[in-house]
Amino acid sequence: MRVWNIVPGDDRGQLQQSPQEQPEPGSGEVLIKVRAASLNHRDLYNREGLTTRSANTSIVPLSDGAGEVVAIGEGCRLFHSGDRVVIPFFPRWLDGPPRDDILMARGEVGTPGVLAEYLVAGEQELLPIPDHLTYAEAATLPCAGVTAWNALASGSLQSGDTVLLLGTGGVSMFGMQFARAAGARSIVVTGHAEKAERARSLGADETIISSESPDWEIRVLALTGGRGADHVLEVGGIETLPHSLKAIRLSGRVNLIGGLSGFAGSIGLGDLRHRLGVVQSFYVGSRATFAEMNAFVTQHQIHPIIDRTFSFDEAPAAYDYLAEAGHIGKVVIEC
Ligand SMILES: NC(=O)c1ccc[n+]([C@@H]2O[C@H](COP(=O)([O-])OP(=O)(O)OC[C@H]3O[C@@H](n4cnc5c(N)ncnc54)[C@H](OP(=O)(O)O)[C@@H]3O)[C@@H](O)[C@H]2O)c1
Repeated sequence: MRVWNIVPGDDRGQLQQSPQEQPEPGSGEVLIKVRAASLNHRDLYNREGLTTRSANTSIVPLSDGAGEVVAIGEGCRLFHSGDRVVIPFFPRWLDGPPRDDILMARGEVGTPGVLAEYLVAGEQELLPIPDHLTYAEAATLPCAGVTAWNALASGSLQSGDTVLLLGTGGVSMFGMQFARAAGARSIVVTGHAEKAERARSLGADETIISSESPDWEIRVLALTGGRGADHVLEVGGIETLPHSLKAIRLSGRVNLIGGLSGFAGSIGLGDLRHRLGVVQSFYVGSRATFAEMNAFVTQHQIHPIIDRTFSFDEAPAAYDYLAEAGHIGKVVIEC
């Protein structure tokens, strides 16, 4: 079968395709023909970080995939050949709170990722694909979708709430879609006028262009009658966090998700204290959280926003496209 590997390079990891023996499912495992995989920003970090100085082993990349069960191992009861399955981010975080010993994601050293024609997985790790979704759509859910859902559901997202989204990438666009489906109002802060227009056409209630409003929290307060946002999906890190802390309502939630501008630096806690804010960090979520999200996605017939799809052989181009940051929503590789 064909497999992409990231091998350590001088400056960053290099994608290389190589033939590999097709795996066989063992007891309690199924063989999946991977039909689609999606990229997340973390996959760029993983490629950047795999240098000859940091690692001496290659990885099969990408955590997020969906495919068809084509063979089952002994004792399998949950899935059968022909079933459509989505592959969660954490093979071992099935339910309950996170634990150090189960927070190993696919696509990292020691846990092969999904950018291969076939993959073996334990059947208890997997979830059925919601009927209304294609393989490509389902492949966008495991990291970005579950993270956005986990943050908003943990904050008891309700109709009438205001959800603040930073940028128009994968996590933020899921947040926008979940907010809309829940009857909440979304405000998207983006660096680009044309992306603001597209975000509005895709369902954003309000958009703010950060270059025109560098202190965009003032606009958020104006758009909410001075109250502030109920939830922020904080993906920006050190550059955006000081603004997010000022943009929330009293006792509002800042969901610490990403660090697109890095995490290093100091931030005063005065605004957080003043707004009586709640900051909570998230790392994707469990299979059980994924299942809850799928029920919501099915109830509201949500179709994830896919910006562009690449073929399996075009995987390096898909990485470069994501790195250029011209996308809105998700970038997918069809296998
Ligand atoms: N904790 C978790 O479990 C978890 C899960 C998923 C992702 N993450 C993290 O969340 C972040 C976003 O991931 P993603 O996959 O959604 O990214 P993505 O699809 O690559 O989207 C990134 C978008 O954010 C905006 N952006 C870029 N640099 C920015 C900056 N310095 N400040 C504010 N906005 C910026 C841009 O949108 P515009 O051009 O519209 O401004 C860009 O297109 C990453 O840091 C990722 O590692 C964390």
